[in-house]
Amino acid sequence: MVASGLSRKGRAVVFMSATILVALVLYVYVSVLGEHLTAGLHTNLLKIPVLALSALLAYLGVRALNVALFDFVFRLRRGYEAPTLVRNIFTLIAFTILFVLIFKWQFTDINLGALFTTSAIFGVIIGLALQDTLGNFFSGISLHADRPFQVGDVIVVGQQKHTGVVEGITWRAIKIRTFSNHVVLVANSSAAKEAIEVAPRNNLNARLVFFGTLFTDSPAKTIHVVREAVHDADNISRKITPIVRIRNLGESAIEWEIKYWLEDYAKYNDTDALVRQRVWYALRRNGLAFAYPTRTIQVERKGPAKPTTAEEAIIDRLSAVEVFAPLSLDEIQKVAATTVAHVFAPGETLIRAGDAGASMFVVHNGRVQVQVTENGRARAVAVLDEGDFFGEMGLFTGEPRTANVVALDETEVLEIGHEAMRGLFEKNPSLVESISWTIAERRAGLAAGSQQASQASLDESAGLLTSIKRFFSLR
Ligand code: CMP
Repeated sequence: MVASGLSRKGRAVVFMSATILVALVLYVYVSVLGEHLTAGLHTNLLKIPVLALSALLAYLGVRALNVALFDFVFRLRRGYEAPTLVRNIFTLIAFTILFVLIFKWQFTDINLGALFTTSAIFGVIIGLALQDTLGNFFSGISLHADRPFQVGDVIVVGQQKHTGVVEGITWRAIKIRTFSNHVVLVANSSAAKEAIEVAPRNNLNARLVFFGTLFTDSPAKTIHVVREAVHDADNISRKITPIVRIRNLGESAIEWEIKYWLEDYAKYNDTDALVRQRVWYALRRNGLAFAYPTRTIQVERKGPAKPTTAEEAIIDRLSAVEVFAPLSLDEIQKVAATTVAHVFAPGETLIRAGDAGASMFVVHNGRVQVQVTENGRARAVAVLDEGDFFGEMGLFTGEPRTANVVALDETEVLEIGHEAMRGLFEKNPSLVESISWTIAERRAGLAAGSQQASQASLDESAGLLTSIKRFFSLR
């Protein structure tokens, strides 16, 4: 084969030039020797170059026919690449027929049949030497005839359970690329004897991922939480909702399995890992826990409890939130005691536009992005960092969430509920005012942040103040 680095056009040019050159040499040879080829002492000897050149020309012709038949006609009619083995068999048969014809034409006095018969012993010797090769060859043909898998399918084959993507079937072997990017060649003859597990490329193939939770955790809640967490992960098919089910009530855990279907089965390692990651975050956020051997210890506390480092960090975080500036330390501590911390994975959605919402969030660690969907595409409106808050629009107006909020990094947020805010509003009227300002500004940001919009925000803030007060039943 010509160097694979050449383009299709380059190869065609090289091919055409070679054909013309061979034809020219043959023509010159035949013209120069002329009648010596038909009569004379060394006629047969002189004919050998003619045979060789004609055979070469025949070979080039067969190659051209091969390309025309398989690259154009076959691909157009069947819609996929013709297997290499089939192409090679075609070349071999067509070339043998042409060679015999050329031979008979040049050497009319030599009996080819007799030549083959007398070389029968030679044939047996060759046959024995090529036993394995021929075995592979015929197994390859039967694999092609069966078509149990195609290039691009994932297969598990052989006693060593070689797993990978099929790259081709040759005379000798099936070539697969493993997930460690190694190439494994499984001899056709041994593959024909083994069971082959095939995950076809254009098929919804499923995977199972396992995990275990504590017996105290609610199975219904676990099913809901895990299904929600994994259904929109990358490469999971949207056509079938993942199934989350208990596979066993084990000695120390409720043992679960998640069955999900993949768009691209060749990426199942990454997708399994992503599913496990999503499960970890979802369980943690929802107060569910992985099972491990546990022991209950009773601890007796003497004197008033001191805040832990985590609680202190939450108090510090809330104190640094700009709109909470009017609050006293005591009030901040009370809010801190009611907050619930949640951790989200990068890419996870914290708030979905249109949902109802009865709480707001302060970014404790990480970053989130506020997005609106326009013409089916997400447009980023703002990025909120540690100490920023979001979700206040839904909480204070009672209206549906105005935007999607998505974690950019692993993000921990502190959730503050309706009741905690109501207590603060009663004692801090300025807090209501600054929050209604923020809401008005953010609404203007959603409407694209023009001059007009910011003027509108001033007018809007007064109206908002009244509706927030009404919503929280304040005077
Ligand atoms: P809410 O409507 O409850 O849910 C989506 C949240 O995105 C919204 O509250 C705000 O907290 C936040 N948000 C909306 N628009 C903006 C904006 N322009 N700038 C920053 N945050 C915004």
